[in-house]
Amino acid sequence: MALKRKGFSTKAVHGGEKPDALGAVATPIYETSVFAFTSTEELIDVMSGKAGGYLYTRFDNPTVRAVEKKMALLESSEDACAFASGMAAITTVIFTMVSEGDHIVASRDLYGGTLNFFQEFMPRFGVEVTLVDATDMDDVEKAIKRNTIVIYTETPTNPLLKIVDLQHLAAIAKKHGITTIVDSTLATPYNLKPIKFGIDVVVHSATKYLGGHNDVTAGIVCGSKDFIQNLKRNRKILGGILDATAAWLLLRGLKTLALRMERHNQNGMQIAKFLEKHPKVEKVYYPGLSSHPQHSLAKKQMRGFGGVVSFEIKGDFEKTMQFVESLKLCLLAASLGGTETLATQPATSSHYLITHEQRQKLGITDQLVRLALGIEDPEDIIADLKQALNKI
Ligand SMILES: Cc1ncc(COP(=O)(O)O)c(C=O)c1O
Repeated sequence: MALKRKGFSTKAVHGGEKPDALGAVATPIYETSVFAFTSTEELIDVMSGKAGGYLYTRFDNPTVRAVEKKMALLESSEDACAFASGMAAITTVIFTMVSEGDHIVASRDLYGGTLNFFQEFMPRFGVEVTLVDATDMDDVEKAIKRNTIVIYTETPTNPLLKIVDLQHLAAIAKKHGITTIVDSTLATPYNLKPIKFGIDVVVHSATKYLGGHNDVTAGIVCGSKDFIQNLKRNRKILGGILDATAAWLLLRGLKTLALRMERHNQNGMQIAKFLEKHPKVEKVYYPGLSSHPQHSLAKKQMRGFGGVVSFEIKGDFEKTMQFVESLKLCLLAASLGGTETLATQPATSSHYLITHEQRQKLGITDQLVRLALGIEDPEDIIADLKQALNKI
């Protein structure tokens, strides 16, 4: 591919796309469920894979294919496969890999939906899952069994921004012949390239930074050609392909990924430093701060530290709820990675459905706030945080 040696933004803008027969610069939205042929022979050739082309949108679609090619370039993977959501991507990847009797080692600090899938679905299919502290490589290696086929983690984790040493993780997995999967949603390929550290498969909720505007739900998987080919066969059966209009929004979002990530990284750093000095703030979690226990690993592994900053307020459950409800510019909403700054109290949102005791074990205190910084001017975000902190 001619774009392989070009810079990140050049790949993000041009990769996977070229003007069509009419010269359209933006890839058209192929919002069609099916494609027509002029002969049966032609249809059979496409269906059997003898010839390239499109047959039915649940199988593949040109707008979706453009996103996949662009993401493969950005993640430095051989190929990519797009899904209707991050969860559709994650569940299809796992169903592609596991069979009855297999064992998965997974980080304990996973997105709740992924954790539910591992804990509720996998046992029903005869697959055992062991949860570990993925920041502790001894814990990871000790959990490996003869039938372990997957090690699954996120980095940075959500909402406590723990960092997993990917090079070390990949080396352990290779020694035991195990496939590694990393959910890189919080980092994006701008800040982290898991494949360069030896990770096999990268998954994203593209709903977050990749789409980037809080207006599209999507998922992406990046990996080897063989893995993606197999995954696409299963996507056809499980039916989770991305819609063409959503793919078009994602293509548009990806073009500005580097610009947005630069701003998210700057806002993250500036606001983490502001919070660290504020008298009403007990503790700040941000891998860019030198107070973060894994700051040097984060610096070695990542280009920037992203836009998610978590912190604990000096106060209790009610005071924290009062704080998030007092924000005026930052919106009380449970997502991240978009242009708008969103704030949540994990105890009343992402971790509401588990017990207080379970939350304590995970380090999710009642006073924890997760800020998913947008790309607004940092001074305005700080002014909003100040006025809300003043109210408590
Ligand atoms: C880290 C992470 N992975 C996966 C998902 C699931 O993605 P989606 O909501 O697009 O299905 C989320 C959603 O919040 C997430 O934060």
